Amino acid sequence: MRELSGAVGIVTGASRGVGPVIAERLAREGVRLALVARSEEGLAATARHLRRYGPEPLTVPADVSDEDGQKHIVETVCRELGPPALLVNNAAVERISRFQDVAVEDIRTILMVNLFGTQALTRLVLPHMLAAGSGHIVNIGSVGGRTAYPYGTINSAAKHGLVGFTWSLREELRGTGVGVSAVYPTLVADVGISARWSAGKRPLTLGQVTPQAVAEAVLRCIRKDRVEITVSPVMERIADVFSAVSPRLTAWVARNSGVYSYLREVADVGRRGG
Ligand SMILES: NC(=O)c1ccc[n+]([C@@H]2O[C@H](COP(=O)([O-])OP(=O)(O)OC[C@H]3O[C@@H](n4cnc5c(N)ncnc54)[C@H](OP(=O)(O)O)[C@@H]3O)[C@@H](O)[C@H]2O)c1
Repeated sequence: MRELSGAVGIVTGASRGVGPVIAERLAREGVRLALVARSEEGLAATARHLRRYGPEPLTVPADVSDEDGQKHIVETVCRELGPPALLVNNAAVERISRFQDVAVEDIRTILMVNLFGTQALTRLVLPHMLAAGSGHIVNIGSVGGRTAYPYGTINSAAKHGLVGFTWSLREELRGTGVGVSAVYPTLVADVGISARWSAGKRPLTLGQVTPQAVAEAVLRCIRKDRVEITVSPVMERIADVFSAVSPRLTAWVARNSGVYSYLREVADVGRRGG
């Protein structure tokens, strides 16, 4: 989609972390935004911040993993703003933990928010985009959805699922005017899930990117209809390409450069309640 000014866009997970930064980037392009998350307070803060770019965004407090919540989001957006032309599936939950320590409820929650929520919300938004003959869906994945991500096993499974969902739906929709993309960030600095980790020193091989770089990738996916963008320092982008050829080699490098032992440390700090 080239013309974004005036388009209606939904950003999930917009109450904190990377979501507000993605929303800000789209607001700067003139997108009329609906912000979704469970926290009314967080959404209100994001909406207040975005006033400087135009009309205050609509806030829709809802749980993306809940079917009534998903219907409520789409009905509210259609009623208040009009049919959505953009959907950024950014909301997610994560638990860094040894797999034997996870509760079955953690598995359910992570898969329901990160995978089911994304697919079910997309399903409800899609008819509006198809009717308009244009639209774009961006799924926020993770480099942990491209390669082994020990101690983040449930999220890794969900994010690997998003890769398949993105490529499959994109091919299915070819020729309809509706694009589908995925953005795969490595660890994000300053805000969001991994910025809250409290383990020791990160290994140098585990890069960090700014949330603004993630937001730029979202915009590039929409404007240029890119299927996927990995947002990471150059070494990790190379590893990403190699992982398609040899996942074993990528895992070997990560294992031997301290990435996995660092993640184990994050998991064990969490286990001790840190
Ligand atoms: N931060 C990183 O290092 C990193 C790295 C790779 C990929 N990513 C991906 O980037 C995206 C954003 O992550 P983040 O770091 O910004 O996470 P975050 O700070 O934990 O924010 C997650 C957002 O999702 C919302 N959310 C969680 N459960 C929800 C539910 N059931 N219904 C509706 N909204 C829900 C949260 O709002 P409420 O709690 O108010 O509902 C919050 O706005 C995610 O897809 C994540 O997997 C992040």
